[in-house]
Amino acid sequence: MKSSIWIIDFGSQYTQLITRKFRELGFTSELMTVEDGLSRLKLEKPEAIVLSGGPQSVFEDKTDYSPFFKDEKLPILGICYGMQIMGQYFGGKVEKGVQGEYGLAKLKCANNFLIPNCPSESDVWMSHSDHVSVIPDKFKLILQSENGLTAGIKHDSRPILGLQFHPEVHHTVHGKDILSFFLNNIAALKSDWSSKTMMESCLEEVNKIKGSKVLCAFSGGVDSLVAATLVQKVIGKDLYCFFVNNGLLRPQDLNTIKMLQEKTSLNIEVIDATEIFLGALKDDKDPEHKRKTIGKTFIEVFENKVHEFEKNHGVKFDYLLQGTLYPDVIESISPHKVGGKSVTIKSHHNVGGLPERMKLKLLEPLRYLFKDEVRAMGLSLGLERDWVFRHPFPGPGIGVRVLGQLSRDSIRKVQESDQILFEELKSHQLYDSTWQAFTVLLPVKTVGVKGDGRAYEEVIALRMVNSQDGMTASVTELPWSFLNRVSSRICNEVKGITRVVYDITSKPPGTIEWE
Ligand code: XMP
Repeated sequence: MKSSIWIIDFGSQYTQLITRKFRELGFTSELMTVEDGLSRLKLEKPEAIVLSGGPQSVFEDKTDYSPFFKDEKLPILGICYGMQIMGQYFGGKVEKGVQGEYGLAKLKCANNFLIPNCPSESDVWMSHSDHVSVIPDKFKLILQSENGLTAGIKHDSRPILGLQFHPEVHHTVHGKDILSFFLNNIAALKSDWSSKTMMESCLEEVNKIKGSKVLCAFSGGVDSLVAATLVQKVIGKDLYCFFVNNGLLRPQDLNTIKMLQEKTSLNIEVIDATEIFLGALKDDKDPEHKRKTIGKTFIEVFENKVHEFEKNHGVKFDYLLQGTLYPDVIESISPHKVGGKSVTIKSHHNVGGLPERMKLKLLEPLRYLFKDEVRAMGLSLGLERDWVFRHPFPGPGIGVRVLGQLSRDSIRKVQESDQILFEELKSHQLYDSTWQAFTVLLPVKTVGVKGDGRAYEEVIALRMVNSQDGMTASVTELPWSFLNRVSSRICNEVKGITRVVYDITSKPPGTIEWE
């Protein structure tokens, strides 16, 4: 997103969150690499820059960052590594860190300086051990950590703020107030983002392609539903939604599609490709391999269907509509790097490669929005609350919730147990108390008693987590009476299951899905 607030990414895993917190405060910002920042600075004048945190140490980095500090009027926020470069440039001293300044730390105000809305003491998140040990001339100490380390500095006359901790992460209790202090008080910027500007910028994107035929790989999830509703508002019947049933869906997914066909004016066609997917997955055991097979099969099924449709209806599609959101865009600008390479924990991008293969242009009207903004837009487009607050569901679906080899029977066990969990969450009014909830079939057999006999059957794990964006997660604490009810229904009603366990692993170290 073009913006005059630049976020220079030094590689911290939290950089995206700065953009997000700024947005919540009503400001757009543009994330860019250090190289882009340095070269664009020769031609453009940003209104403010943020130098992010990063994993490296100033003792090993010989890059000349002085261009960032030359313009005396440019507001600068240095976070962690950004503050250390700043400290060094202005003549202060950076020292190798001490253990114990990672994670949660107490922050105290210094020299009687108070940040608006922040108490004199609060919790913050530190994740770098180097720190500014001698404050440069013309800077004043405004924040200190509990054990006396420099945590915040402010220039006497220039609009510059340096923070040793991460104000953008959730754990920094007053982080948003501190960022607001930078944007509103130090940089004195004017807010440029609201739900009105958000809708206008999305519609502007769609208006440009009026008259074109648009194809949508519709999943029924929040993103594709909001994207399709927005586009349909502008181009009406020129939008065609195809929904692929890969045989790895839960009952609630198919029910949602039926309901959307009835209750909205979207033109949704269902393609039942269960047999093709199950055939393709027949010998797959490995999680990443299953993901690849599912992604590849999806592309083949979708492509065949579209060619057949174009031939039969004399239509030629110009655009492929995708519900891509801003975190995906940012991730592709700035992959979190370890040892110079981005690490793949799981390959999430299920249908990558589709537009190139089908020679379609991409339409991504939500690509500057965060999930909560997409939900808000869905509501203002008239969609029902239940539709836009559905839990996330991964593209490979039950394919990664049956551990190892899939079979029709194992898929059935997950479908039936998931439906029970879903019904109980809804009837106990707990659906909104958890961010994502699902069942997983474990490939182990355990002994149990059913009726008067011995049973030797499989295990279902319940997974319910709270999260903001899926990047970190904690286990949802639910009442025992509810868990008991779900467990007893699953053991009684799902043939082949004798035991139910509750996964109590947070992310990290676990991931949300088991595969
Ligand atoms: P993990 O398991 O990585 O999940 O902690 C984080 C979030 O991503 C979802 N997820 C996926 N979504 N394709 C998707 O579209 C995938 O292959 C995939 N794997 C995980 C997961 O459900 C959670 O919301």
